[in-house]
Amino acid sequence: IAPLVDDFTTALDLPPAARNRPVVGFFPGSTIGNFRPDEATAFLTSARKLLGEGAAFLVGIDLIKAPEILIAAYDDAQGVTAAFNMNLLTRMNRELDATFDLAAFRHLAVWNPDEGRIEMHLESQAEQTVRVAGRTFRFAAGERLHTENCHKFTLAGFEALARPAGWRIETVWQWPDPAFAMVLLHA
Ligand SMILES: C[S@@+](CC[C@H](N)C(=O)[O-])C[C@H]1O[C@@H](n2cnc3c(N)ncnc32)[C@H](O)[C@@H]1O
Repeated sequence: IAPLVDDFTTALDLPPAARNRPVVGFFPGSTIGNFRPDEATAFLTSARKLLGEGAAFLVGIDLIKAPEILIAAYDDAQGVTAAFNMNLLTRMNRELDATFDLAAFRHLAVWNPDEGRIEMHLESQAEQTVRVAGRTFRFAAGERLHTENCHKFTLAGFEALARPAGWRIETVWQWPDPAFAMVLLHA
């Protein structure tokens, strides 16, 4: 295993230990779901270029399942995901000299069936004004910041992203519950 520490949207070179050897890329955790479909295909195209002729690519994809299961995963009872989402406001306060009142926003996980994705939002609980990096932003009560997308896949939908990027599906390992798949692609 040769780890590649880089921005995976712009990585251009394999680590030296992996050059001139059979290459298997590993991209777990359904991180691919954080891309829009056009970005996912662009990523798979650049991964095809990076990994090279004859390479394999093992990609984890979270599969479409009942919205109540997905929402419970992104709005968990312990509030872990809510804290993760709210941390964006904490970071803006710290790093962009912002004035967000964390108690005046709440975390929302929304299933968007048209786009096949969970969206994370932060919803303003009142009419308010916030300063960020020297600029002023006004929020109405109920107005939302859209902070993250987590696309969910069918195997056919994933194949439609991977094929134009130069990959064919070789093997699929699928778990029924929670529905998740590891897909082995071949260049
Ligand atoms: C959904 S998490 C998955 C983490 C891990 N694969 C797992 O299964 O637990 C996505 C990870 O990708 C990292 N990440 C996001 N954008 C990145 C980029 N452009 N380059 C490299 N890593 C990135 C994030 O920091 C985060 O650790």
